[in-house]
Amino acid sequence: MLEQLKAQPADALLALIKLYAADERAEKIDLGVGVYRTADGATPVFAAIKAAEARLLADQNSKSYLGPEGDMGFVRAIMPWMLGDFDPAGRIDGLQTPGGTGAVRLAADLLLKAGVRRIWMGTPSWPNHVQILNAVGLACETFRHMDVATQRLDFNALEAALDKAEAGDAVLLHGCCHNPTGADYSETQWDEIAETVAAKRLFPLIDLAYHGLGHGFEADGYGLRAVLSRVPEALIAYSCDKNFGLYRERVGALYVMTESPAQQASVQSNLAALARANWSMPPDHGAASVRIVLEDEGLTKIWLDELASMRARMRGVRDALAAHQAIGSVNLAAVGQQNGLFSVLQLTSEQIAALRADYGVYMAGSGRINIAGFTDANIPHFIEGLRAVTA
Ligand code: LMR
Repeated sequence: MLEQLKAQPADALLALIKLYAADERAEKIDLGVGVYRTADGATPVFAAIKAAEARLLADQNSKSYLGPEGDMGFVRAIMPWMLGDFDPAGRIDGLQTPGGTGAVRLAADLLLKAGVRRIWMGTPSWPNHVQILNAVGLACETFRHMDVATQRLDFNALEAALDKAEAGDAVLLHGCCHNPTGADYSETQWDEIAETVAAKRLFPLIDLAYHGLGHGFEADGYGLRAVLSRVPEALIAYSCDKNFGLYRERVGALYVMTESPAQQASVQSNLAALARANWSMPPDHGAASVRIVLEDEGLTKIWLDELASMRARMRGVRDALAAHQAIGSVNLAAVGQQNGLFSVLQLTSEQIAALRADYGVYMAGSGRINIAGFTDANIPHFIEGLRAVTA
């Protein structure tokens, strides 16, 4: 039987981790997978998380199962940060998932079970979105999120897509820090999107994987609140892998807003059943650490300060890149206006390959760069490589 299986290529983005590690050049630059790095190139455990982990180690007296919903203290502790001043009046609850990926997977499963067959999404997007949606059996309809050449967000394409979408279709939206383009909707555009989604009775799935890494929790949650305040039902896939630096611990949650609080019990029972069939129960350690941080004012303050310094550093890198304005086909000025960990550069696959071969610069095949992979020391080397390959 197994000889029937065709070998699959390694995930192109994750493969970069190993390729980079195997490169012995001192001047190599890792702009690949979405992991935050300090100005020294390190990805340390957050101090707030270290302290929470120490408490967990001292106080946790059992590793017994919690159930498919995971740590509900964690799930509920995230809600005020996610929702800000939006009061769901008992219409939102969730469950813990293995990372934001698990949340997207469960969201797709739930949509399919609820009768959704088609989902609209802007491209380029996180490559795993389409893989997950297709694996579940949802038909993906795409529209252009951004024109990479001009670095302009294509709002007309979104409007045209939403216009074509039919009641009962779902639409996937990145809440903030768009992956991979870094190009987010303005508040006015979010209001417009929310009105259309509500008027056309589309089902919004909002992926919030980089909350707090753009302009802070309040600003980064504007789009989410704009949509939630206008629609009867919505799904939110939330990740703590980036904003708590817990990547390999796989910490996420899926939230569902129902039309009335009375519908929550049935929806949650469906989520629990789907989780049980997928992974049974999510891993505990990372989510418990997040809960401990959020339950403690002192640790929360340390965490917020750490996030603020991450934002400031990424803003600094963006400004430094933007100061170069344009190099060949690459509009670097736009990078200064974008948000979060990523931007996409207008480069051909040959240019991306040459950057890797000749300059040790590792970036995704889409031209996506991880802003946190830059340091004051390596930007000149990157610019030199960019000049050479675009000459
Ligand atoms: C990324 O886009 O680099 C991250 O979200 C990591 C991943 O799982 O792809």
